[in-house]
Amino acid sequence: MDSQRILRDFFRKTWLAYVISIALHTVANIIHVNFPKVLGSFTDELKAGQLSMDGVARYSLTLLAIGVGFAAIGGVAQYLVMYTGRYFEFMNRRRLYAHFTGLGEKFYSKNGVGKLLSYFMNDVTAVRESISMGVNQTAGASILLVSTIVMLLLTDVPVYLVAACIFPLLLIPVIVVYFGPIIRARSLKVQEAIGAMTESAEEQFGGIRVTKKFAVEQTMRNRFGETVERIRERQLRLVRVSSLFQALIPFLGALSLIIAISFGGYLTITNRISLGSFVALTLYIRMLMNPLQQIGNVINVIQRARASFDRLNDLLGKQPDIREAENAVEVDFSRSGIELRRLSFAYEDGRDVLRDISLYVRPGATLGIVGRTGSGKTTLMKLLLRTYDPPEGTIFYGDTDVRSLTLANLRGGIAYVPQDGFLFSSTIRENIAFYKRDSELRDVEHAAKMAKVYDNIIEFPDKFETRLGERGVTLSGGQRQRTSLARGMIKDAPILILDDSVSAVDAVTETDIMETIREIREGKTTIIIAHRISALKHADEIVVLDEGEIVQRGTHESLLAEDGLYRTLHDIQEEGTRQHGTGN
Ligand SMILES: Nc1ncnc2c1ncn2[C@@H]1O[C@H](COP(=O)(O)OP(=O)(O)O)[C@@H](O)[C@H]1O
Ligand SMILES: [Mg+2]
Repeated sequence: MDSQRILRDFFRKTWLAYVISIALHTVANIIHVNFPKVLGSFTDELKAGQLSMDGVARYSLTLLAIGVGFAAIGGVAQYLVMYTGRYFEFMNRRRLYAHFTGLGEKFYSKNGVGKLLSYFMNDVTAVRESISMGVNQTAGASILLVSTIVMLLLTDVPVYLVAACIFPLLLIPVIVVYFGPIIRARSLKVQEAIGAMTESAEEQFGGIRVTKKFAVEQTMRNRFGETVERIRERQLRLVRVSSLFQALIPFLGALSLIIAISFGGYLTITNRISLGSFVALTLYIRMLMNPLQQIGNVINVIQRARASFDRLNDLLGKQPDIREAENAVEVDFSRSGIELRRLSFAYEDGRDVLRDISLYVRPGATLGIVGRTGSGKTTLMKLLLRTYDPPEGTIFYGDTDVRSLTLANLRGGIAYVPQDGFLFSSTIRENIAFYKRDSELRDVEHAAKMAKVYDNIIEFPDKFETRLGERGVTLSGGQRQRTSLARGMIKDAPILILDDSVSAVDAVTETDIMETIREIREGKTTIIIAHRISALKHADEIVVLDEGEIVQRGTHESLLAEDGLYRTLHDIQEEGTRQHGTGN
C-alpha cells in the first residue's frame, strides 16, 4: 500500500464537502472583511459631522448584518469540515482494525497492546485534527488575507504603507519553516514516551496480582515513575520550543500594528489619508493578526500530526507476513496424512528451535508428543498451522506443501487448543461457540460435557449465559482450560491438536477427558502434546522432543522398554502419583 493512500481514499469520498466548505468560508470572509471599511466610513462621516441618529442606526444594522452573516455562514463551513473529520476517524479506525486482524503473530509478539491502542486513539485523532483545522483555518485565513489586501488597496491608503505594515507578517512563514522540523522531532519523542507509558501501565495492571503476591509494589511504582518522568521531560522540551514559536507570531503582528499607528498616524495628521482610512487600516491589521496566528497553529498541529501520519502509513504499509500463495489449493484433511520432511526452524534471533524433524502421521492416527518446556513443541504446532512460515518443502498435508494451501482451508481443517486458551469478556456460550457463532445450545452443552466443564458451568446462576472477564465471573485455571478445550471440540475438525491443553486439570479429570477424546476422535487425526505421560500413552506413535530434536519415538510400551528420557519422565511421574495419591 503506498503511503499517501490514507489521504487519497479519504478525499476521494469527501472532496465535495470540502469544496462547499471552502466556498462558504470564502463568502463568510468576504462579508467579514467589510467590517473595517464600514467602520472607516462611519468615522469619516462622524468626523465631518454629517451623521444623524438615523445614520448611526443604519451603520449599526449594517455591522450587525456583517457579524451575523459571517458567524452563520462561517459556522456552517466549520461544521461541515468537522463532520467530515469525524468520518475520517471512523473510516480509519475500521481500516486499522481490519489491517490488524490481517497481521500475524510475529507482529504482535513485537508490539504491545498499549502501542496498538495508541494508533487508534492518538494517531488517528491527531491526523483528523490537522485535516479539520488545516482546512478551516487555512481557508479562512488565506481568504481573509487576500481580501484585506484588496480592500486596503481600494481605499486611499498608499501601497507603500500597506506594504510596510504587512512586511513583518511575511516573516511568519520563515519562522515556521525554521521551527517546524524541531517541533516535529520533539513531538515524536513525546509520542514514543506516551506509548511506552500506556504499554507499561497495561502490563502492570495485567500483572497486578503477581506484583501483590511478591510485594514488589515499590519497585513497580519506581519503574512507572521513571516512565512518567520521561514523558514530562520530553513534553517540556517540546513546550519550550513551541511556546517560543507561538509567541513570535503575535509579536510580529504587534510590530505591524506599531508601523500602522506611527506611519499611518503621521500620514493622517498631515492629511494625506482620511481618519476613516486610518481606522480601517489599523482594524485590518488587527483583523489579520488572528488568522495569521491561526496559520501558525495549524502548521504546528500539522507538524505534530505528521509524526502520527507517518506512523499510520508505516503500519498500513506493513504486509501480513503470512500470505496465501497465488494459486492456493485446498485439501481434504480427513484423508490427508501430515508429513514433516527434515524440518528445521529458527525464530528471528536465528537460534535453531527445531532441528531436522521428520515425521509422518497417517490420516486418522493419534500422535503424542512429550518433551520438556522449551523443547519446541508449541513451535512445531505453530508451523503446522502456519502462524509462522516453515521453510518450503518441509511440511505437507497429503502431497501438498502447507504453504500452498488456502488459509481458510488450513485453519478450518485444524482445531488447535492452546495451553493458555484466551477467553473473551462475553458469555461462556459465546466463548465455546466461538468458531461457529450460531451453534445450538445443545451442541455447546455437548462440547462442555466432553471437556468435563459442564458441571461447573451449570453451577453458575446464569449457566451458559454467564459473563466472563472484567465484569463477570473469573474461572479457575483448570476451568478456563476446559472451556477452551470445549471450544476446540465443538469445531469437530478433521485434525485436532491439543497443546498441553489439560495441564491445569487434575489427574482424574484428565484421564476422563482423554478417554472421551479417544472415543470421539476415533478415526480422526489427533495430536496430543502433554507433559503427563498418562495423557498420551494410547497414542499410535509418541515422539520425544528434546532441545528441538526428536530423541526417541515409538509406542508407550516400546519407549518404556528403552533407556531414555521417556522412561525417566514416566518414572518421575509415577513416583509423584504414588506419593500424592491422585497426583494433582
Ligand atoms: N515468538 C518467539 N520468538 C523467539 N523465540 C521463541 C518464540 N516462541 C518461542 N520461542 C523459543 O523457542 C523455544 C521453544 O519454545 P516452545 O515451542 O514454546 O516450546 P514448548 O512448547 O516445548 O515449551 C524456546 O526456547 C522459546 O524461548
Ligand atoms: Mg508449549
